[in-house]
Amino acid sequence: MPQHLLLFLRPAADALRRVLKERTGMDIALSPKGAKGSITLAVDTALHGAEHYRVEVSKKGLTITGATPAAVFRGVMTLNQLLLADPHEAERGRIPAVKIDDAPRFALRALMIDPARNFLPVKDVKRFIEVMAKYKYNALQLHLTDDQGWRIALKSYPQLASPQSYSAADIREIVAYAAEHYIDVIPELDIPGHTAAFLSVYPELGCTHLRNAPIKVGETVNRMLCAANDTVYTVYNQILREVAALFPSPYIHLGGDEAAVPTNWEQCPRCRAMMEQKGYKRASQLMIPFFERILSSVRATGKKPIMWCELNNIYPPADDYLFPYPQDVTLVSWRGGLTPTCLSLTAQSGHKLIMAPGEHAYLDYPQMHHDLPEYNNWGMPITTLEQAYRFDPGYGRTAEAQAHVWGVMGTLWAEAMPDINRVTYMAYPRALALAEAGWTQMEHRDWADFTQRLYPNLDELMRLGISFRVPFELSGK
Ligand code: ACM
Ligand code: ZN
Repeated sequence: MPQHLLLFLRPAADALRRVLKERTGMDIALSPKGAKGSITLAVDTALHGAEHYRVEVSKKGLTITGATPAAVFRGVMTLNQLLLADPHEAERGRIPAVKIDDAPRFALRALMIDPARNFLPVKDVKRFIEVMAKYKYNALQLHLTDDQGWRIALKSYPQLASPQSYSAADIREIVAYAAEHYIDVIPELDIPGHTAAFLSVYPELGCTHLRNAPIKVGETVNRMLCAANDTVYTVYNQILREVAALFPSPYIHLGGDEAAVPTNWEQCPRCRAMMEQKGYKRASQLMIPFFERILSSVRATGKKPIMWCELNNIYPPADDYLFPYPQDVTLVSWRGGLTPTCLSLTAQSGHKLIMAPGEHAYLDYPQMHHDLPEYNNWGMPITTLEQAYRFDPGYGRTAEAQAHVWGVMGTLWAEAMPDINRVTYMAYPRALALAEAGWTQMEHRDWADFTQRLYPNLDELMRLGISFRVPFELSGK
């Protein structure tokens, strides 16, 4: 095997060693030399698809092969599941004889955490990564900026950083740890709304009529970056360059959601002048030139943009109906009720789509009535474990009409999550249901079977000290 592949296999080999030690007590030294032994990990380029792997256990030994080192690692996580399912046999060092040939339905399986609302220390983020990796998630989105905080300390604009934020060294530590689990860390800087923390430092970059209106960080004040101020673009160009250099991910998420256009752009003299100059009837159309400039900065970094698919500003369609996203933007469907529309629009337009519909994938919604954060949240709908499980990311559409779906993402918006314990409490076990929605073809999905396979995993989460929530009846509210 080429040396570089051996190097990239090291985290998979380390993971295998940990799994075997933890489940069977065997402490096995793994040699990188390709020596013949009873345990083999290897990249097999005859396999296709970035995460296609095979696990074979027979009298001769254990072999995990994958199309890539990441695929081998996913195979190791499957072995962990096999051993978890029968801990008594595993403790005796017995591994069931199996032949597994497996690959994910979707290339992207992501979770999003929100340290902007409530900061999450590096050690908590790492622990979160460790757990999500067990369920074959391959991306973590970090929502780094919002009204309640700017959580990344930048050299170019150090004043922006909230007292609790990630330094460059912190980011490197998170990214390196994620890489050991073959997880991509996608940074999100939310613009042009959700920018109160930014505007509390640079109020002159908000709309003109609001310059002297006070901003209190921590309150949602619905301020926006001014679309007609050149300095906004200069500053963000620099910020995006620095963030792009810190994160190896090919992607940057730019938000684009929930912008309070009527109280900002619509009433700003500069924005109004820009509307007139462009011949726009509605201030929300300024999203087009705003993101044109921002996206050219993103493209200059070599990264690919992702945005929340925001249909509320433009839907239901007006006479000047528009679907304004440039072709190279990957969209995330999220708004309750609008995912079928988003799926159809993007099928027509050819945009790549991530499925995070509120109905199934907003893991920050309560699982049942009377559960937190219903009390201190704002009346979010209920998403039961069963509802999370009954998520078909293709929404039952034809193969052609869902061919542009890239994957799934579960959100953990943290307004009502003061710490990592509440985050995992909301995430689990629904994130297990979502992981399966992202990985497994519909013909192999079965709710009753899932509930059975769930139990050893709940035991394991409890053993790990991961806070989670299960209702009295799994499908109940
Ligand atoms: C969102 O939930 N604001 C994307
Ligand atoms: Zn303005």
